[in-house]
Amino acid sequence: MDGRKKKRLLTGDRPTGRLHLGHWVGSLKNRIRLQDEYECFFLIADLHTLTTAYEDPSKVRDNVRELMLDYLSTGIDPARSTIYLQSEIPEVTELFTFFIMLVTVNRLQRVPTLKDVMHDLKISQPSLGLLSYPVLQAADIMMVRAHIVPVGEDQASHLEVTREIARRFNRLYKHVFPVPATLIGDVPVLPGIDGKAKMSKSLGNAIYLSDDTDTVRRKVSQMYTDPTRIHATDPGHVEGNPVFTYYDAFDPDKAEVEELKRLYRLGKVGDVQVKKRLAEILNAFLDPVREKRAGLAEQGKRLDEILREGTEKARKEAQTTLSLAREAMGLGLP
Ligand code: TRP
Repeated sequence: MDGRKKKRLLTGDRPTGRLHLGHWVGSLKNRIRLQDEYECFFLIADLHTLTTAYEDPSKVRDNVRELMLDYLSTGIDPARSTIYLQSEIPEVTELFTFFIMLVTVNRLQRVPTLKDVMHDLKISQPSLGLLSYPVLQAADIMMVRAHIVPVGEDQASHLEVTREIARRFNRLYKHVFPVPATLIGDVPVLPGIDGKAKMSKSLGNAIYLSDDTDTVRRKVSQMYTDPTRIHATDPGHVEGNPVFTYYDAFDPDKAEVEELKRLYRLGKVGDVQVKKRLAEILNAFLDPVREKRAGLAEQGKRLDEILREGTEKARKEAQTTLSLAREAMGLGLP
């Protein structure tokens, strides 16, 4: 053991746009809950963004700002947690270089998210960078020697690669890295408002943490519900109905949820009514987030400072880890 008091948590996001309710249930909620229990690191993965957006990275800066606002307005507390910018940590790419020796091309070709991205973006041959996306992620995680990684379910296959690399490194050289655990949110995948399996920016079916009250109302009123139900008096299906998945995820009043489900199954409450109530619940959840965001948006300098301080702190950790790794491998001048 290395005498550190708290265990470490690391996770992060690519700065590709604003975060939505799916991010909240999949990972943000866990991050905020665990801020006292763990020493937390949240990275803004701008290098990962380049794996697909290398042609025009000009939006990345603005997106970094939006991500900072999403983090701070939902309750990530810079006094307790470290927020940092990946591309400012050169050690991460050095660690990446060690790790690419420990995983085969074939193994990375079998990571399911690779096929998804290639399909969605019509990429016929992945670049070396895209192929090694999970290895760069492993370097992020192991750079702070993290114990736990809260992520959405779609990232589980990447964490598998991280664990394999950690074990391999430890076995070959010396035990340097904890084998990190994956922590998935209690609602692993939030469906989109169109009823598709996953809320996602690219599918255009998301409710954003920064959406205003009317936008939330409008999106909820358009939500896909039970297609077998023609009249409000027809018995409705609750299972697999996204409206009720959202109730389960966001309504703190569980008795209310059970009652609405009961009435819905009996055909005694209409879609319009359950949606109206759902919009209220989501807006009640988002109101304090919006308020905080509006206050923070005025403090551009403060946001830059938080990111700079966090990045300095993360870099020190990276340097410590790098020297442990180099020593374990016997690299460098005698
Ligand atoms: N791949 C993650 C995503 O798209 C972002 C990410 C990069 C990450 N490095 C990480 C997540 C390290 C957890 C740990 O959501």
